[in-house]
Amino acid sequence: MTASMTGRIAIITGGARGMGAATVRAFAGAGATVIIADVLDAEGAALAADVPGSAFHHLDVSSEPAWEAFVATVLASHGRIDALVNNAAILMFKDIDSLTSDDLDRILGINLKGPIFGMKHVGRAMKAAGKGAIVNISSVDGLRGANGLGGYAVTKWGLRGISKTAAIEFGHHGVRVNSIHPGGVNTVMGNPGGATGDALQKDYTMVPLQRIGEPHEIAAASLFLCSDAASYINGAELAVDGGWSAGVYHSMLPGGPAAR
Ligand SMILES: NC(=O)c1ccc[n+]([C@@H]2O[C@H](COP(=O)([O-])OP(=O)(O)OC[C@H]3O[C@@H](n4cnc5c(N)ncnc54)[C@H](O)[C@@H]3O)[C@@H](O)[C@H]2O)c1
Repeated sequence: MTASMTGRIAIITGGARGMGAATVRAFAGAGATVIIADVLDAEGAALAADVPGSAFHHLDVSSEPAWEAFVATVLASHGRIDALVNNAAILMFKDIDSLTSDDLDRILGINLKGPIFGMKHVGRAMKAAGKGAIVNISSVDGLRGANGLGGYAVTKWGLRGISKTAAIEFGHHGVRVNSIHPGGVNTVMGNPGGATGDALQKDYTMVPLQRIGEPHEIAAASLFLCSDAASYINGAELAVDGGWSAGVYHSMLPGGPAAR
């Protein structure tokens, strides 16, 4: 079955750029009406102007009142919400010794409370309708540890955990919830210096596929999980990471690229 979203209403948070923008394009290309929810007003409006079937709404995902007003607006104009991709997040490079209480409040607010508010308020509408699909964008850093990324990792582990809780709580209402765990992806977050060619790929030689991921490759997984092609997938965690979470390539052992 191909991933069709014809006639569906989808919300993509953090949809103004990067992986979120690729997801907006993928869902609209599959026939969905897509609401781009982001704090980047100029980028979001420009994307909406470029993608037929999409519209931009300002939303700071860390604010529960903003979520309530946003969901009410979407329901008033579209009647229902079929899909939600909780994609918005920030990165924070700090070791545990440097993390402040304000740092933790900020990253937990956007990366963890944001998706929880989304699941809560969009989930209510989906449960009332008896159907819907939610994808939470976690990370490989929600599957393992990473030095200097403790604050970020705790939000991505938390999102992985509450995705499974939501899958259990929402499943009997016909609403599926799954998490996606991207590896390194070529966006402002994953490639802030805008490196290209060998300069970009040299940091990814430990990834079994030997390269960084592209935003459309994560978007395709979100589209699949929100479509009827994934109708029996609930509570799953899907690594879209070139095999990074399966293990890293050790050059001193046989069987890797150098042995080919
Ligand atoms: N790029 C990577 O290497 C990578 C790897 C693993 C996971 N991820 C995850 O993928 C998702 C998308 O990341 P990306 O690489 O496209 O990053 P990005 O920085 O390019 O995009 C993030 C988007 O989220 C939006 N955003 C930030 N704070 C917000 C808020 N308070 N309310 C609403 N929107 C807000 C930003 O404006 C931006 O449009 C994130 O959840 C990220 O943690 C990224």
